[in-house]
Amino acid sequence: MKRVSLTQYLIEEQRRHNNIPESLRLLTEVVGRACKTISHAVGKGALGEVLGSAESENVQGEVQKKLDIISNEILLEANEWGGHLAAMASEEMEQIHPIPNRYPMGEYLLLFDPLDGSSNIDVNVSIGTIFSVLKAPAGMQHPTEADFLQPGTQQVLAGYALYGPQTVLVLTTGNGVQSFTLDREMGAWVMTQKNMSIPEDTKEFAINASNARHWFPPVKRYVDEMLAGTTGVRSKDFNMRWIASMVADVHRILTRGGVFMYPADARDPDKPGKLRLMYEANPMAFLVEQAGGAATDGKQRILDIHPEKLHQRVAVFLGSKNEVERVTSYHVE
Ligand code: AHG
Ligand code: MN
Ligand code: MN
Repeated sequence: MKRVSLTQYLIEEQRRHNNIPESLRLLTEVVGRACKTISHAVGKGALGEVLGSAESENVQGEVQKKLDIISNEILLEANEWGGHLAAMASEEMEQIHPIPNRYPMGEYLLLFDPLDGSSNIDVNVSIGTIFSVLKAPAGMQHPTEADFLQPGTQQVLAGYALYGPQTVLVLTTGNGVQSFTLDREMGAWVMTQKNMSIPEDTKEFAINASNARHWFPPVKRYVDEMLAGTTGVRSKDFNMRWIASMVADVHRILTRGGVFMYPADARDPDKPGKLRLMYEANPMAFLVEQAGGAATDGKQRILDIHPEKLHQRVAVFLGSKNEVERVTSYHVE
C-alpha cells in the first residue's frame, strides 16, 4: 500500500475541497507534532518520572496528574510561535491563553483536552488528547473567552490522538474521518484508515453503571431495556464496555460501532453531566457525525448548542445512529 502522510493528505484535501488553507494545515501539523511528543512522554511512564499526581487542582476542582500538566505545556509551547493561532483554551487552564505579543497573531482558535482519561495514566490503560479548531470572529483584535463561544457546527477541524498499544491520530475537516498511525521509527503519521464509518445499529453500549441509582428515568429505561436482552423489548443481547477514557471509548465506536453515554443525573442540578462541551463533546460529536453516527445531549444535537461558558458541561449520547436516536426519543417523550 502506498504510504500517505498527514501532510500529503492535508495538501490533497485542500486541492479537492479548498477547505484547508496553508495556515490551517501548518497548525494541524504542529498539533500532530505535539501529540508525538506527548505520546513519547506517555510511553516513558515511570522511566520518565511522568506518573502520579501533580498535587494541584484545575478549574473543575479535579486533582491534576503530572501528565495533565506536561501535556498542556507541550501543546502550548508547540502552538504558540507558529503565527496560525490567535488564542488557545484548555481543560487545564481557567482562562484562555492569547498568543503572546512577541509572536504574530493568526486567525484560528485552538481548544484542547491535553490528556483525556487521567484516571488511566498510572494503570497503563489507553489515554489521549482531544482538540478542536475554530475560526476567530472577523475583526477580532484581542481574543477573549467570548470569541470561543461558538457552536460546534463552526469547527473547521477536530480530532484526537489515542495513546494505546498503537498511537493513532484521528481527524476530520468536514469531509469524513481519517485515521493515521504513528510510525515510531520514522516519527511520521501514516494514513491507515480512510472514511471511518459507524454502523447504524449496534449490540454494544458504554456507560459508567456505578451511577445507575442517580440516572433520570429515560436513561434508566434505555439501559434496562438493553440489559433485558433477548427476553426484553429489544429482543437481542447487548454487551457492555467502559474504558473511562472517552477517547478510547469513541475510538472503539468509530471502529466497530456502539453507543457511548455520559448522562446528566440527579446529583447536582448545576452539573449537567461530566464532560465538557467545548473540548470534549464538540470535537467528538463532529467526528462521530462525520462517520455517519449521531451525538446529542439527550434532547438536541450537541453541535447546535450555543455555549455560554468555556468550561461548561454537557450530557453526551453518541455513536451508532439508531441507538442515539432511540435514547434521545426517550428523553423527548
Ligand atoms: P479527563 O481525564 O480529561 O478529566 O476526562 C475523563 C472523562 C472521560 O474521558 C471519561 O469518559 C470519563 O471522564 C470517565 O468518568 P468516570 O470516572 O466517571 O467513569
Ligand atoms: Mn477528558
Ligand atoms: Mn483531561
